[in-house]
Amino acid sequence: MNRVEVKINNDSNNLINYDILVEKGIISKTGELVKNILKGTRALIVTDDIVAKLYADTVKESLEKENIITSVCVLENGEANKNIETISNIYSHLAKNELSRKDIIIALGGGVVGDMAGYAAATWMRGIDFVQIPTTLLACVDSSVGGKTGINIKEGKNLVGAFHSPKLVIIDSNTLLSLPKREFNSGMAEVIKHALLFDDALLELIEANCNNNSNLDMDFVLKRNCELKARIVEIDYKEQKERMFLNFGHTIGHSVENAAGYGVLFHGEAVAIGMVYAIEYGIKKGITKDKNLLERTKKILSKFSLPISVPENINLKDAVKLDKKRSDDKINFVFLESIAKPYVDKVNIEDIINE
Ligand code: NAD
Ligand code: GLY
Repeated sequence: MNRVEVKINNDSNNLINYDILVEKGIISKTGELVKNILKGTRALIVTDDIVAKLYADTVKESLEKENIITSVCVLENGEANKNIETISNIYSHLAKNELSRKDIIIALGGGVVGDMAGYAAATWMRGIDFVQIPTTLLACVDSSVGGKTGINIKEGKNLVGAFHSPKLVIIDSNTLLSLPKREFNSGMAEVIKHALLFDDALLELIEANCNNNSNLDMDFVLKRNCELKARIVEIDYKEQKERMFLNFGHTIGHSVENAAGYGVLFHGEAVAIGMVYAIEYGIKKGITKDKNLLERTKKILSKFSLPISVPENINLKDAVKLDKKRSDDKINFVFLESIAKPYVDKVNIEDIINE
């Protein structure tokens, strides 16, 4: 079994310590693993309608085998449901099934389920334990690691939330086999982001195997990505400095994703466009020194059918201005000097879009 240990000293100097376990088929061991950390007797599995049909029975049976009283809350899938009404629905399930402060929530699904189940756990009885079982590539390498939880409100994405770390993360790469190809490729954008930011060897490994995904050792890729993200979260849990690196590609990516309209571009696709833009902008400003980086990045993203330029129907200037209308004129922008050398600089929004 692959194991990544996460150790965070939070603001109050409390040590947050949890394991990320990566193994094929591990979801059928959920019961044994949860039993070791459960202080009470009950678990609520929070999942969505698509994931429930695929994996909820395996997880529930495994928990019940260990005599954990288990109930399931099935949410409608999709970002549109990541809101306060859904949280209220989770609270009703928690109340109806009598979960106490000693009991546990199991988040089974992609980042939407993870963020909502995590937020419900952060707030139910002022905070109970939760376990992440991510089932999308994005959730495995990004959203399940690092303790950010939250929901959207009509004024913006992820505006309401809490830092609340899981007690355990259980990653079963077999669950990724049922992911639609486009969803998998979108997750690869975040994998490539981590490699560009921190690990040339990982980038080389992906490059060497991207003609045939089945050669890629996914358990190694998942473990390495979790390690890379965990090391950043450990030194900067509340995103004061180094955690900002993880926003590489997200400034332009976020604007383009919003401007394209709901569901048109997947998050990873928008981030891919944003990463290419950030490298081009870095080269123009003389910050990105490695001139091969642009072509190398475009090539690897294209191998996963990810877009590498802003769609023609999107006016980038309008998109960025609209997206940033409530923030300062100057924003933290993540550049890459070269592979594994990220650099954050404050830049003027006008400067980015006039390039
Ligand atoms: P998602 O959770 O909406 O999942 C995408 C789709 O895949 C859904 O329809 C889901 O039902 C389906 N699905 C999930 N697992 C599947 C499987 N194994 N087989 C088949 N279908 C499956 O989307 P996502 O990309 O996982 O997550 C996006 C969310 O993550 C966003 O809300 C974003 O804000 C959040 N996020 C959070 C963090 C964080 O640090 N907390 C980081 C990045 C993203
Ligand atoms: N997804 C970026 C972060 O967790 O900080």
